[in-house]
Amino acid sequence: MKTDSVVQNIPFTGRKRSLIEDARRERESASSSPGPSRCGDNFVFEEKNDKVRLSVLFALKNEKNVGFFHAGKVFETFEAKLLHLESRPGRRSKNGLSDDLEFFLKCEVRSSDTDIFINSLKRVADDVRTVQDERVPWFPRKISDLDKCNHLITKYNPDLDQDHPGFSDPEYRKRRAEITELAFNYKHGDPLPYVEYTPEEVATWKEVYRTLTSIYPSHACTQFLEGLEQLERECGYGADAIPQLRDVSAFLKERTGFQLRPVAGLLSARDFLASLAFRVFQCTQYMRHSSAPMHSPEPDCCHELLGHVPMFTNKEFAQFSQEIGLASLGASDEDIEKLSTLYWFTVEFGLCEQNGAVKAYGAGLLSSYGELLYSLSNEPEYKPFNPAETAVQPYQDQTYQPVYYVSQSFEDAKNKMRQYSSTIQRSFSIRYDPYTCSLEVLDDVNKIQNVLSYMMEDLKILHRALERLGQT
Ligand SMILES: [Fe+2]
Repeated sequence: MKTDSVVQNIPFTGRKRSLIEDARRERESASSSPGPSRCGDNFVFEEKNDKVRLSVLFALKNEKNVGFFHAGKVFETFEAKLLHLESRPGRRSKNGLSDDLEFFLKCEVRSSDTDIFINSLKRVADDVRTVQDERVPWFPRKISDLDKCNHLITKYNPDLDQDHPGFSDPEYRKRRAEITELAFNYKHGDPLPYVEYTPEEVATWKEVYRTLTSIYPSHACTQFLEGLEQLERECGYGADAIPQLRDVSAFLKERTGFQLRPVAGLLSARDFLASLAFRVFQCTQYMRHSSAPMHSPEPDCCHELLGHVPMFTNKEFAQFSQEIGLASLGASDEDIEKLSTLYWFTVEFGLCEQNGAVKAYGAGLLSSYGELLYSLSNEPEYKPFNPAETAVQPYQDQTYQPVYYVSQSFEDAKNKMRQYSSTIQRSFSIRYDPYTCSLEVLDDVNKIQNVLSYMMEDLKILHRALERLGQT
């Protein structure tokens, strides 16, 4: 049920750039570049135990086989394991100009050596190029690989954007740079950075906290309210102090397995979504400018800690978020754009039905006083959440959304999301292993049987529990 709040007088303050726009730009630029890789321009098809498999083409002049021996020396130097080798007459030899040979090979090298290995090969051979067997973009396999998911492709920050409230405040820009530096230096396993917030930053937080919490009871969903109540009771949430990521992350880890990781700004869509697959939420730590406490054109700690974090205390929502992340791994750029759109209309701007009323669960709404009122007024259009339709819905980032998607429940949203994920074209299946915080590519019958045996053990535990309760 919508409320009749009058919201016309609340100005929209703009987001300017979004995950979806970033995903679109990545897809558009992909047509002129070979695709994402974490090893320079060289394609990595498979990465395992810090080794990568490459497919390489190169040509050699057949002058006393010197080039061949030099190329062999490169393989010896880098301890490259040769997996496959073919040769054929070079293309230039067809018109009789030379007797060059062209080689195609597959080999395995250390991940860290990939670029220098290829560059060394270029010194002794001609036309060296890596080729793709299939277009599977790189994705993190273990949680520490998130150190490589650090592509800040949107630089909407006060140093660059004249419309940013902090643009003309050098002190603010200096302070923000100090805090983002902590994120740049962070590596998986480090303690999360502690920030000593200034009285001015705490005053901004206090104003945002008081304003938003005044409308949460009537506008936020039950799960959000319960999460916020837990955070206030057990994690130091309140208007008087800005919670530290370290404390919040430890709290979430105990509740749902989610954890926070400091980030210096808006990440690329692919990197951001990949983090969710590991139940990691990339979280900014700096505060918005004090001149505009109810507006930040970029994510800041108010948006993250108030908009996002309470929902991550909910197990269904945590699993829903992870489903989006898992679906993104190795997905095409086109699918990344669709998944970013789904993320936008759910995790950021999602509504859900509760006891005959519509309530907000999206962080973009729950951290924006104006849009939260607007979204539950009679003005916007509501549509039932349907991933196939939602994934291609045009979004609006220059004003409030004209359309919001309403989920029946998080369980319903999660099931629909899982169903949608199964339609994404990928040549492999993956499973998240919560014990090792890593992803297993299920490309082998033995691996699948191992997973099944673990599941059988779990089923036996559940069966015995039911027996003890006299339910069988
Ligand atoms: Fe967000």
